[in-house]
Amino acid sequence: MCGIIGYTGPLEARKLLLDGLAGLEYRGYDSAGIAYFDQDSQIRLVKTVGKVAALREMVGGGREELSHCGIGHTRWATHGGVTNANAHPHRFGSVTLIHNGIIENYHQLTEEFCLEGRLMSQTDSEVAAGVLDAMYQACGRDPLAAIRDFTKKLSGSYGFCILFEDRPGEIYAVRRVSPLVAAYTHSGSLVASDLTALIAYTRKYFVVPEDAIVRLTPYKVRVYDMDFNRVEPEYMEVNWNMDAAMKNGFPHFMLKEIHEQPEALKNTILPRVSRGIPDFTEDHIPDHLFETANRIQIIACGTAMHAGMVARALMEPLLRIPVTVSIASEFRYEEPLIDKNTLVIVISQSGETIDTLAAMSLAQSRKAPVLAIVNVKGSTIARESDYVLYTHAGPEIAVASTKAYSVQLAALYMVCCRMALVRGKYTEEQAQEFLKELLDAIPAMEAMIGKKDAIKALVTHLINQHDTFFIGRGLDYAFSLEGALKLKEISYIHAEAYAAGELKHGTIALISDRVPVIAIATQEHIFAKTVSNVREVKARGAFVILLAKESAQVEEYIADAQVRIPDIADAFTVFPIAVVLQLIAYYASVGKNLDVDQPRNLAKSVTVE
Ligand code: F6R
Repeated sequence: MCGIIGYTGPLEARKLLLDGLAGLEYRGYDSAGIAYFDQDSQIRLVKTVGKVAALREMVGGGREELSHCGIGHTRWATHGGVTNANAHPHRFGSVTLIHNGIIENYHQLTEEFCLEGRLMSQTDSEVAAGVLDAMYQACGRDPLAAIRDFTKKLSGSYGFCILFEDRPGEIYAVRRVSPLVAAYTHSGSLVASDLTALIAYTRKYFVVPEDAIVRLTPYKVRVYDMDFNRVEPEYMEVNWNMDAAMKNGFPHFMLKEIHEQPEALKNTILPRVSRGIPDFTEDHIPDHLFETANRIQIIACGTAMHAGMVARALMEPLLRIPVTVSIASEFRYEEPLIDKNTLVIVISQSGETIDTLAAMSLAQSRKAPVLAIVNVKGSTIARESDYVLYTHAGPEIAVASTKAYSVQLAALYMVCCRMALVRGKYTEEQAQEFLKELLDAIPAMEAMIGKKDAIKALVTHLINQHDTFFIGRGLDYAFSLEGALKLKEISYIHAEAYAAGELKHGTIALISDRVPVIAIATQEHIFAKTVSNVREVKARGAFVILLAKESAQVEEYIADAQVRIPDIADAFTVFPIAVVLQLIAYYASVGKNLDVDQPRNLAKSVTVE
């Protein structure tokens, strides 16, 4: 989850590292630091608690000097609190390194290498530096041999960028599970935890292979296997441009990404339509995958899991097979009832979420075919799944997921439609109608974006409260889960999503005039039931905001405020509703003057357990 960048080449390294870290900050923002070779080939270290802006100030305040090689890190604390000492880079003997991931056996390593009392920090990363230094000295200061022996000692996950004091101008990188990408460009050689740090310099990059060592010099990037044979990396091309990773006039990435959803949906859906029907030929996803499954197991975390909950509510009644949704961090320690006839769908924006990855491996070990719905091209989940369906949202920078959620839904809806067709649940005409209705959801989303000022006005009723409820039934309940998560994570207002019919089994005790309720009622067959539940909370004094379709008939006094979405088919209301829920969370965070894009304690891309 930490941001990593390394650079060696003709440009001023410190500026490049700081700019790169600013772009990577969404991966973690507790503290930041850089290490670089100065003009006398000495390694200098600057690090601080706080954001990259604080680090920039410290670096700017130093004496004028040029540097052409360095590494930088922005941290999301795992081992050890948020302190200057725990910030990266860490120096031990001849080694200076930055680390993303967790070294699980750091305790044993501390003992084995007698590091107790010699460490400045509480981090597993400094222990790793101590171990690598010991290896470096033991093998006659040969970086490749030292790194090979070092990795044999480690258990856990890691992405390391390493400087050796007697190797100015060189950076070494190695990884297991934690992501690293690298590139050689006209402006020098770069390595980073993700593409946003490289895109200003190149469109061509490669994913650092696991169990390989990368050596970066100003003139080349070389990859070696653990027997030191050269390996040719597989270069890929970025399919989005620099603009996609900038705010482009929006005050926050989150608002920009909310606005980008209609376009992201088109990019995800339209290339996969043939004769008006979803077609995955270009994605190399064969129909037999959909024909043979006798059940579906969806696995994901957080927002991606909520997309899975919506898909379950859609798929099960249509396909008439059991569809289960599991939280990846639970699934990976269960004894799941899956086999080769279970279609496992994993969903991940980043493609690097460690729990989702581990759950996927478990499913694969049970011979279940895995279809991954992933946004980041070349990510670990995309590479290790059996089939991959890329969503085309472009980079999502705000920590709170918005556009990734709607494109995940679009992909899942298309899979559902294709499955219904190949399993004889849909005729071609019905599949075409489904796809048409999916596309109708795009203008409905645009319409809700157009209502953002009205939604902003409603949020004044939430921002001074401590608790809220999101209620709904069926699909609307699945939407509520995501609405509550979004509000919690960026506005810090406690929000609970509840199946509307379940409230009176205890929870309604919490409803009062200080607990606003956001009621979602877009499903015609249960509309009246949800409205009854709205009456119940209203009778207990709640301020109710009702989200319903334009044509839904309801007495004016039922709710204190209403947001109406366009009249589209019930199965597709999630798309405009998602926009409303995202805007509620966004304006609540803005109204409370919080850091919308980088909320406290969180980070994008959860690569630790
Ligand atoms: C919430 C959010 C997270 C992610 C979750 C999974 O706004 O972004 O809940 O959805 O951490 O991440 P991915 O999709 O990258 O696997």
